[in-house]
Amino acid sequence: MCGIIGYIGKENATPIIFEGLKKSEYRGYDSAGISVSEGGRLMTVKAKGKLSALERLLEALPYSHLGIGHTRWATHGEPNEINSHPHLSTDGKFAIVHNGIIENAAELRRFLCDRGFEMVSDTDSEVIAHLLEYYYHGDMLAAIKSTALKLKGAYALAILSSYTDELYAVKKDSPLIIGLGKNESVITSDIAALPSQCKEYLLPEDNEIGVITEGKAVIYSLGGEPVEKPYFINSGTSDESDKLGYPHYMLKEIFEQPAALENTLAGFSEPDLPKSALSAVILCGCGSAYHAALLSSRYFSRLGVPVSVMYASEFRYCDPLIDSDTLFIAISQSGETADTLFSLRLAAEKGAMTAAVVNVANSSIYREAQIKIPTRAGREIAVATTKGFTTQVEALRLFSAYLTLKAKKITPEEFSLAKSEIAAAASALKTMLSDLKIYQKTAYDIFSAKNIFFIGRREDYALAKEGALKLKEISYIHAESYPAGELKHGTISLIERGSICFAPVTCADLKEKMLSNIKEITARGGSVYVITPFRETFSADAKVLPIPTDGAVYCAASVMQLIAYYTASLKGLDIDKPRNLAKSVTVE
Ligand code: G6P
Repeated sequence: MCGIIGYIGKENATPIIFEGLKKSEYRGYDSAGISVSEGGRLMTVKAKGKLSALERLLEALPYSHLGIGHTRWATHGEPNEINSHPHLSTDGKFAIVHNGIIENAAELRRFLCDRGFEMVSDTDSEVIAHLLEYYYHGDMLAAIKSTALKLKGAYALAILSSYTDELYAVKKDSPLIIGLGKNESVITSDIAALPSQCKEYLLPEDNEIGVITEGKAVIYSLGGEPVEKPYFINSGTSDESDKLGYPHYMLKEIFEQPAALENTLAGFSEPDLPKSALSAVILCGCGSAYHAALLSSRYFSRLGVPVSVMYASEFRYCDPLIDSDTLFIAISQSGETADTLFSLRLAAEKGAMTAAVVNVANSSIYREAQIKIPTRAGREIAVATTKGFTTQVEALRLFSAYLTLKAKKITPEEFSLAKSEIAAAASALKTMLSDLKIYQKTAYDIFSAKNIFFIGRREDYALAKEGALKLKEISYIHAESYPAGELKHGTISLIERGSICFAPVTCADLKEKMLSNIKEITARGGSVYVITPFRETFSADAKVLPIPTDGAVYCAASVMQLIAYYTASLKGLDIDKPRNLAKSVTVE
């Protein structure tokens, strides 16, 4: 979702804000803008498109020591200059940047128009700037408080006013970080966008207001009381945002998977578990995190209790059955996905034990879950997740093995075996990634296709869903995933001469069943690429993309990532920033 940045300090604000926007661009990249304050005036530049379009306008901004910036993922109003942030109040004295959605924006627009305010954009966010003007009577804190009380929905806001020499921030249900350096402070939506000079940071909670000066921030409750906050150390390294010679972050991150798997394994510490026996397990996430949950549900079924897997956006509205012995596990790379965060909160309200598998430490989901299972994939920048997904599968495997050990359903030897299987997977994947020709060739064969099918059974069905998602996300080829046995119940009518299908087959006990399903496709003129360690079973009927037996699940996922990557590359697409997407979806 949108990235917000604010800066106050001794340096010129514009280049620092622009650098912060570059690091936040994965959150949204359809338009961007910056406002700075100078001599009691706010000056703003905005541009449609990627940040390079904004960069050309920056010299119009004066030297200033405070300002705010935004990179947008449109929710209300098409991407254009007027709809891009910062938004200004009617008198031009307040500028805001917003991440989130204001749900009562229509009502607030009417309220403001009735009082003579002029709306210029189609956005939900613009009302915030006008509300600040309406409620400002010489006291910024009071104006922000009255504005916040009027807003329904989710927001992280950075606020600039020509009346003062301070920056302000307030949040509800959207991430917000305040970084502090020696003589400077930075507001961001993402720890990764904090400059290294900010050695410490604060995490305001919902309904807290930050009043930010050079190197200092005072946090107030909405009631106006100062709130003591812990200071966190900014341990981010700048290396992580370097492509290190790879043409795209996605390829770099695919190659980082063996190390990410090793780090996640080495960093797995046995969590404190509740004493009582579990009655049910619910796994919940969005996008690829949902696929990791689906794949891993099989591992949890050894606990001998019902295991369900739900899309977070569905979970919230399906009146889920939960008791205090239910274990609810949220899975999220970013730890900020709004649907997953709200699902976690709902499960906690209903009394469930909560756990989270999260890659970004100190993210909202990580902080709020009782049991924290970190994935240690390192920063993931490409919008389409790769190492985030495989380490989620791994962490869920480890967590499930630990739970089954504690429930005495497996022996300590079996638990150690699960760990050594992951170590072997990392090393097998490293070897597999040393020769990429077959994936480049496959991409060449499929890149002009209009539709591609992905089929699989059980864990391989989850892999098929992830493979189809990867291809759709970055190559824009329509892909459909099906349980292999389900294809014949309708969808097989779409198979004809020239149809292309991918079939990950890692489940040894299901390979013969898969062979029958594959024959059903080839008999109708379709061609099938089978990603499998069981080459002999399939070589007479399909094109085999061989993978090692060790870590077959991780290797199959990586093969599909590579094929999607090379396909998008042949089509000349913007692989790291696919159209219409954002990496961290902080709106419902
Ligand atoms: C977005 C991304 C997906 C990701 C999903 C969940 O839709 O484009 O790649 O899988 O969010 O993200 P999370 O950070 O919660 O794992």
